Amino acid sequence: MATKEIVLKPKVKEFLQDVKGLYINGEYVQSISGKTFDVLDPATEGVIARVSEAQEEDIDVAVAAAKDAFEHGEWTKMEAAERSHLIYKFADLLDENREELAQLEAMDNGKPYEVALADDVDGTVQHFRYYAGWATKITGKTVNVSPDYFNYIVHEPVGVVGQVIPWNFPLAMASWKLGSALAVGCTVVIKPASETPLSLLYAAKLFKEAGFPDGVVNIVPGSGSVAGESIITHKDIAKVAFTGSTAVGKGVMKKAADDIKDVTLELGGKSPSIILEDANLEEAIEGSFNGTMYNHGQNCSACTRVFVHRKHYDRVVEELAERAKAMKLGPGMNPETEMGPLVSAKQQQTVLDYIDKGKEEGARLVAGGKKAFDKGYFVEPTIFADVEDDMTIAREEIFGPVMSVFVFDDVEEVIERANDSEYGLAASVWTENIRTGHYIAGKLQAGTVWVNDFGLELETMPFGGYKKSGVGREMGGEYGLANYTEVKSVLVKV
Ligand code: TAP
Repeated sequence: MATKEIVLKPKVKEFLQDVKGLYINGEYVQSISGKTFDVLDPATEGVIARVSEAQEEDIDVAVAAAKDAFEHGEWTKMEAAERSHLIYKFADLLDENREELAQLEAMDNGKPYEVALADDVDGTVQHFRYYAGWATKITGKTVNVSPDYFNYIVHEPVGVVGQVIPWNFPLAMASWKLGSALAVGCTVVIKPASETPLSLLYAAKLFKEAGFPDGVVNIVPGSGSVAGESIITHKDIAKVAFTGSTAVGKGVMKKAADDIKDVTLELGGKSPSIILEDANLEEAIEGSFNGTMYNHGQNCSACTRVFVHRKHYDRVVEELAERAKAMKLGPGMNPETEMGPLVSAKQQQTVLDYIDKGKEEGARLVAGGKKAFDKGYFVEPTIFADVEDDMTIAREEIFGPVMSVFVFDDVEEVIERANDSEYGLAASVWTENIRTGHYIAGKLQAGTVWVNDFGLELETMPFGGYKKSGVGREMGGEYGLANYTEVKSVLVKV
């Protein structure tokens, strides 16, 4: 492992010194119980920060602050243009702090610093800027079909929103949820994942600096089973937005049902990448490889099932294996690192168990297959060839750098096999024939389909899943706004 290190920015050093509080009603506060938890650097297993741990009583305080801000505060009284301005200002402040935020993301999550900078932080800035623009464009309709009535439809913010996010893109996932909720005028209680609370906690003070009224955004790190559940079940939370595993998502939906709460869920995936006979092979191999290995495979849309036309199968397997073997692993704060550690010891063990399953069930290991280094939660980029559709590694989401490669012979066959999954988040097709590309895109059961590409996610395009990959569209243009508005019909007799 190379030993070069990016030097910590002074503001990051200072931020990491004290116990980080919860951010409630515009202030950092310690949890009422005084409980804290350690945040680890997954590359070294060392503690990088201590963070206050929200319990049920802290969630009550946060929700009360959000409720008060919604019902009595400046936020809902201000002009939409001013709300837009605040979100835009917040984005500018994130931009000014982009290096600090990227350093926190690299240390906390383990991803390479340059990736954190360009994708996570800059993507987050862009996301907030885009949704800032929407604040002034939330309009209703008039529906006048009778001379006796003047009828109109308004879109109102739902109220206090509860959001629970995962650790794979800590800041970006927060932006996907906050951008649209704030644009329409909701107030928010958001829980980051326990593994990665730092970047969002750092950003908290920027809400204040931008001029957001107190209580509009409340950030409550804590465990899923305590803080998360308290958010989901809180009677004053009108809507829940959750991103994470399908297993937990199922529980969230059931609990939200008690109060008939509206829910959006962005869950797991097992996305196919289909390399057809007429594909540009260089692009297809590179796209499929990056599509699996990006973010160390900890990506809900990762294309971990790569279907290759028989004619190219041997070449593709060989080149994928070469790429995997050449990847440089190391800490996110090392500028030479191409792939960092997985986020936690638990995630590392889960991934290693899946690799063992792949070997036991007879898949052919052509690259990787074990952990790397003595310290840190590293797993080698791993490629299995000759994978059968019913093997565990072909069916279950691994959420690590593990690719399964399959051989196929014809288009109808591969469409059926690609769709034979309980998930339906994303898919990719590689072909030089645009008609075939459109045809297969139409047939695939996936919320996002890329043709001759993989992974592009834009704030202008809806993102979410078919089947067990989720409910609703997490973000993207107007689709993201619809998650956070109630629709009211007003009928006026004239
Ligand atoms: P989850 O357990 O689903 O965690 C995601 C978020 O939900 C975290 O903030 C977590 O809190 C919280 N949470 C956990 N239990 C909860 C509950 N009962 N009520 C409310 N919130 C709860 O995911 P994970 O364990 O971190 O990762 C495991 C698997 O989830 C991965 O292997 C992958 O399949 C999937 N995953 C998917 C995504 C996306 S983007 N779809 C992202 C991450 C993980 P704490 O972790 O702080 O306790």
